[in-house]
Amino acid sequence: MASETKPRVLFDRQRIAVTVRRLAAEIKKDYQGQDILLIGVLKGAFVFLADLIRLLDLPLEVDFIGLSSYARGRESSGKIQVTQPASCPIKGRDVLVIEDIVDTGLTTAFLLDYLSRQKPASLRLCALLDKPWPRRVPVTIDYLGFSVPDKFVVGYGLDCGEKFRNLPDICFLEDN
Ligand code: IMP
Repeated sequence: MASETKPRVLFDRQRIAVTVRRLAAEIKKDYQGQDILLIGVLKGAFVFLADLIRLLDLPLEVDFIGLSSYARGRESSGKIQVTQPASCPIKGRDVLVIEDIVDTGLTTAFLLDYLSRQKPASLRLCALLDKPWPRRVPVTIDYLGFSVPDKFVVGYGLDCGEKFRNLPDICFLEDN
């Protein structure tokens, strides 16, 4: 019989909601009196960003940046490209990058370097998930949701070959 890849729940929707509330409280506390620009990294961060901003009663703007590093599979190609630049000017802004997951760190390190060259007033990173092992370049995550084991995770915006983004829970893929 052909093998099938099944998603198994790692963090369910209730646990995600509690964590997103905690992150929003941390961000609100740190950015009181500031007007922040949140930059969501496409496509994986769109669900997380949508939930997070509705808990942030702060003056804010939202923009997106498109990056590609994974060639429709589970392995990082290591070659990062900006597929869609942010549309707002970054210079002088308090920028908070919203990432779905930091894995090797290559994408995030590239992005933070790319944005810092545009001279923001401040630049911080909020990542829902961190896969700290194996990390290829160091990345400082200012606001972190969960650490995850070295397994490929999907759901809540994260995909595998463009599938599974619509799962409401964060799952890992298990071969049967
Ligand atoms: P990195 O460059 O290896 O840190 O990978 C960053 C990007 O790869 C993330 O923004 C995701 O889009 C994707 N990615 C890395 N690990 C996973 C995973 O376990 N599931 C889904 N996407 C992943």
